[in-house]
Amino acid sequence: MIKEFNHDKISGTDKAGKYTEIIKHAEEIVRGESSLIANLANISSLLKYAFDYFLWAGFYLYDKKTDELVLGPFQGKLACTRIAAGKGVCGTSARDRQTIIVEDVNKFPGHIFCDSSSKSEIVVPVVKNGVLFGVLDIDSGIYSAFDGTDKMYLEELVSKILYLFDE
Ligand code: SME
Repeated sequence: MIKEFNHDKISGTDKAGKYTEIIKHAEEIVRGESSLIANLANISSLLKYAFDYFLWAGFYLYDKKTDELVLGPFQGKLACTRIAAGKGVCGTSARDRQTIIVEDVNKFPGHIFCDSSSKSEIVVPVVKNGVLFGVLDIDSGIYSAFDGTDKMYLEELVSKILYLFDE
């Protein structure tokens, strides 16, 4: 039974207000649950349905044996299962360990299309004590959907769930 949560509770009207609610709910959802997969799945859902212009929200998890990102829990259409470090927006964010905001995916060299409706994207790396664990990726159906506000709150969200990742 999920803890007193439904998407209608995300009541903040502006972006900052919504993210504040999302982070609070995410912390409630993961509290007491040790399954990384379950927690990342619910956080993906929380994000995907928070904003109506989000097409895809989810995680890629880093496989150090192959130096690739492997598709993890997500909400949205089918996505490519493996992305080499340094490739696409996700692989670039993972390699550089930096958040990347892409206002127009057509203008990002090497962008990997999973959904042809995707217009803009943000990728936040999941790094704990200098170790890469994966990335959080969100695609939008509109151009320039993401800005510094998304970056700030999504990085905060990732920092709050870092403890879930095993070193
Ligand atoms: N666009 C990403 C690939 C992942 S999908 O968007 C879900 C990229 O260029 O890395």
